[in-house]
This record gives sequence, structure tokens and C-alpha cells, in this order.
Amino acid sequence: MRVVSGIQPTGNLHLGNYLGAIRQWVAMQDQAESLFFLADLHALSQPVVPAQLAQNTVEMAATLLACGIDPSRAILFNQARVPAHSELQWILGGTARMGWLNRMTQWKDKSGKDGASQSTGLFNYPVLQAADVLLYQATHVPVGDDQKQHLELARDIATKFNLDFDTELFVLPEPFISPSAPRIMSLRDGTAKMSKSDPSDASRINLIDSDEAIAQKFRKARTDAEPLPATMAELADRAEARNLVTIYAALEGVGTDTVLARFAGQGFGAFKPALADLAIAVLGPIRERLTRLLDDRAAVAAALEQGAERARALAAPTLKAAQQAVGLQV
Ligand code: TYM
Repeated sequence: MRVVSGIQPTGNLHLGNYLGAIRQWVAMQDQAESLFFLADLHALSQPVVPAQLAQNTVEMAATLLACGIDPSRAILFNQARVPAHSELQWILGGTARMGWLNRMTQWKDKSGKDGASQSTGLFNYPVLQAADVLLYQATHVPVGDDQKQHLELARDIATKFNLDFDTELFVLPEPFISPSAPRIMSLRDGTAKMSKSDPSDASRINLIDSDEAIAQKFRKARTDAEPLPATMAELADRAEARNLVTIYAALEGVGTDTVLARFAGQGFGAFKPALADLAIAVLGPIRERLTRLLDDRAAVAAALEQGAERARALAAPTLKAAQQAVGLQV
């Protein structure tokens, strides 16, 4: 078993990233050899402010450490320091088909009507993501539900490469999607996922938010006037209510039924403050650790450098085998 996953160092880490992905990373680092990285190359698919990308990379790394990623157990690095990601991406570009990339929902959403003015990096984004996991022979990739399609593409690329070049080089990676928080939704709109790119900061809980900000965002979260029912099935048409119950259950580490058994018949006037208290209890200690780490950026940078060295060593044999498989003289 080999675990690999990444996160783009754009903006702040939010509750969706934490419950959907990072918490799984922390749990899995004890179960298998794990590599976690800042996808700084992926960030280039959108316009960047260079100084900000550099700063975000270190700050996102500090946030992962604050969440419990331990560089003595997991390999933590930024993608740009391991050139094999880019090199393998180019090789896999010969295998990936235009039609496959055209079908990616993230490409379709982001390119909208004007695909021609988007960067080619945005179109090729999933090929780099395939390289990220295939390079390390990843067996399990802990991600939120929104990354499932990209992982299926990585499997398609691996399968075609193995077939075309008559090899068993690439292991097919399995997406590991958190059962309790596959997709955390926006606090302002229960049909949109919680996202770093939502212009409204009130739509998400950031891991750096103060206790007051967390309480206020939950207080203002969109809901309805009905009391909570006894089962999730009865919340089928109430997306915002369902999302808040899901967040509560995931934060406490219990099932949604347990939460509803406790709050059935009560309105959001009672539920929201309880949810805010729980979120503050879970996120407060992470924020405190993060504040300390941000005062010691040299230590974070050193952890990244050490992680990159280990990642380069693990990546080298697979890159070499891929180069040989396609006939490159290196
Ligand atoms: P990114 O940076 O958008 O998100 C990082 C992780 O957080 C998960 N996530 C969510 N989970 C539940 N609810 C949400 N609202 C929510 N929002 C985000 C994402 O699914 C992801 O697991 N392309 C990737 C980064 C990447 C990657 C990889 C991941 C690059 N290479 C290789 C896995 C393997 C991305 O942009 O994630």
C-alpha cells in the first residue's frame, strides 16, 4: 500500500479540504508509506501572482503540519522540487487522448464558453495529476469526491500505457473518498461545493478563522425555518440543512443518525451554536499550532526540502522505467 495525494497552494485551507481530504491523510500516514505534496505546478494553470504562490506554498505546508501531517512519518514536499512529475507528465501526454480530457467536468466548468482563451495548462491539468500518482506507484489516493473523475482518468492513462508499451509498470490507483465528508457544500448555497475560489468568504470556514468568525459564519449560514427531522432521508430536499448535519457528524466523528437523534425536533437556533462550538473545539488547536509554525517558516522550509529529497529518490526508478518503456535514450 502506498498513499499519495496533493493540494493546490492557492488561498487558505478550508473545512471542505480538511474533512474531505487532510484528515484522511493524517490517519493514513500511520498505515502506509505516504507522500503528500503542494501542487504548485498545478497552480500555474490559473493566473498567479509569483510572490503570492511562493508564500502560499510555505503557508499551506505549515497548515498541513498543523493539521497533523508528521514529516518523520509522511513525505511532505512541493511538486516543483521533484522534476520527475513534469517529465512523466510529458511522457503520459503521448498516451492521454484529447477526448478524455475534453470530458473532464472541471475543465468544462472552468473553461466555460471560452475554452480557447484558457491556458493549455488547465486542459493538461489531469495529465500532470496522473503523473503525480503513477510516479510513486500509488495504490490509494485520499481525495474529496470532486477529484474522482481525475483519478479515473489516471487509471485510464495507466491502463493504456501498460497495454501500448507491453509493460506492467503502472499500478492502477484507487481513489479513497471519505465516507463521512465526500463533498462539503458552501454555507451560502447548499448546491455548490465549499471552495477556495468562491468570492464570498462567508461561504467557507477557513482553518485560520478566529473563533468569532467561525461562530458568525455558522450563525449566518443559509438554512430554512423547519426543525431538524429524525432521519437524513427526510432532509433530501433541504440541501443546506443536510450539509450542516454532515459537517457536525464529520467533525465529531459520529454518524449523521446520531446527530439527528440528538437534535430532532429542534430548530437551527439551537443547532447552529452547538455546531459552532464543536467546530471551534476541533479547529482552535490547529489554528494555534499554525500560528506557531508561521513564526518558524525556516523549519517549514527545511521540512519541505527534506521531503523533496526523499520524493526524488522514490520517483527516480519509475521515471527511468517509463523512459525506457517508450524508447527514450537517457
Ligand atoms: P484541491 O486543492 O482543490 O483540494 C484538495 C483536496 O480537498 C478536497 N476538497 C474537498 N473535499 C470535500 N468537500 C469539499 N468541498 C472539498 N473541496 C476540496 C479535494 O477533493 C482534494 O482532495 N487537483 C487537486 C490537487 C492534486 C491532486 C494530485 C490530488 C494535484 N495532484 C494527485 C490527488 C492526487 C486539487 O486541485 O485539489
